[in-house]
Amino acid sequence: MTRFEVVFIAIPTIGNLVPVVEFANLLTKHDPRFSATVLTVHTPQQPFINKYVQSRAASATNIRLLQLPTVDPPAPDQYQSLVGFFSLHVENHKHHVKHALLKLISTESNSSDSVRLVAFFVDMFSTTLVDVAAELAVPCYLFYASPASFLGFSLHLPRVDSAKSDSEFAVPSFKNPLPRLVLPNLVLDANDGYSWLSYHAKMYRETKGIVVNTLEELEPHPLQSLYNDSQLKQVYAIGPVLDLVGSAQCDPNPAQHERIFEWLDQQPRCSVVFLCFGSMGSMKATQVEEIAIGLERAGFRFLWALRKPPNAQLQHPRDYNEVDVLPLPDGFLKRTVGIGLVCGWVPQTKVLAHNAVGGFVSHCGWNSILESLWHGVPVATWPLYGEQQMNAFEMVKELELAVEISLDYREGADLVLANVVEKGVRSLMEGGDEIRKKVKEMSGVCRGALMENGSSYSNLVSLIQDLTS
Ligand SMILES: *[C@@H]1O[C@H](CO)[C@@H](O)[C@H](O)[C@H]1NC(C)=O
Repeated sequence: MTRFEVVFIAIPTIGNLVPVVEFANLLTKHDPRFSATVLTVHTPQQPFINKYVQSRAASATNIRLLQLPTVDPPAPDQYQSLVGFFSLHVENHKHHVKHALLKLISTESNSSDSVRLVAFFVDMFSTTLVDVAAELAVPCYLFYASPASFLGFSLHLPRVDSAKSDSEFAVPSFKNPLPRLVLPNLVLDANDGYSWLSYHAKMYRETKGIVVNTLEELEPHPLQSLYNDSQLKQVYAIGPVLDLVGSAQCDPNPAQHERIFEWLDQQPRCSVVFLCFGSMGSMKATQVEEIAIGLERAGFRFLWALRKPPNAQLQHPRDYNEVDVLPLPDGFLKRTVGIGLVCGWVPQTKVLAHNAVGGFVSHCGWNSILESLWHGVPVATWPLYGEQQMNAFEMVKELELAVEISLDYREGADLVLANVVEKGVRSLMEGGDEIRKKVKEMSGVCRGALMENGSSYSNLVSLIQDLTS
């Protein structure tokens, strides 16, 4: 039997790495002729990623996680944005990546079974490695963990005139013009983020195919705009690919989580609003206080993953510990003791799967959106960074699948005031029947897409045909 090997690389963030690993898992499970190697990049500032990689490597049966030799991170004067940092950091591994691929190729020619290295998958910010694949004549693909709408935006990156704050931008992957306020910092800030993103977008066109973690039924318009793009080769919507148990495997605080799930077990069905802002999300004290006041006034049961801002740019937020003073209004914890729980990091997917959870205030990272749709829990939007403002816009305005709290919040923006939080939580939990119904339907559609002959299933089959032909 001919066997097929595929190799993946992703920048070391939870949002990009986790879906890559899950996709490798999906592919090798679907077709046992495939085996996968995920090359991982070590970043000392992000111990959580390293922990995730170790725990996932220990539990993966059909995929191998291979840590590349450690390379010093770029010096602060070499980049201005996070995208700049990650793009350079991955690029600096070029030599090691080439070496790893060569080693796989030579093992394959020495082995008695016939094993073929059929694809090297890069992610949205590691396209500097496309050349390595070309040099070794390995077909190169892109695995894209953000929505098709943002992929389309990246391919048609607008030039933004900083003087015109009210301008709008027509982009083929959106039905409505995009207000300037929802554009990502990458495009608005005058730093290296813009040039990196346009570089990567140019390289997307050099790949043999693009695999997007989305589904036709969720993003028909953006996907059609990509299918119509004659400069792209193949586009495969194969999602939602989700980590339904994984992050629980490297749970930093199992005792706390037992307490959370015991508490959730006692709450009525769909009664709890869950607030969680992602692996990189935290807010300043004044904003935390507005949320607390709004939540208390709204009066719903709540579970709030409140995390402490990091000390330095590349670090993750941390959990508060016993000696920290939480930035909450006086007496907030006492007054809400019966109805709410403030906690640290939580296994988000597991919480969303709990039937006590009736609404999700989310930063709108694409993985979080897919998880909430999978579990049929409506989102209220509170974007923070990355392309999340555009994801929030897509969910609220393009798809009418989410309730709006904010579409344009980001660090340095005006505070979202308590009355807006209160109104948003109310409309999430007791209004928005139409949205709740649509989200429940989409939940079924997501599951159907992955089932035999579903849209994503069929696209995966086409991808496999392409890879093995
Ligand atoms: C999927 O499609 C094939 C070919 O049309 C058909 O033979 C098979 O029964 C279908 N499977 C399901 C579960 O519908």
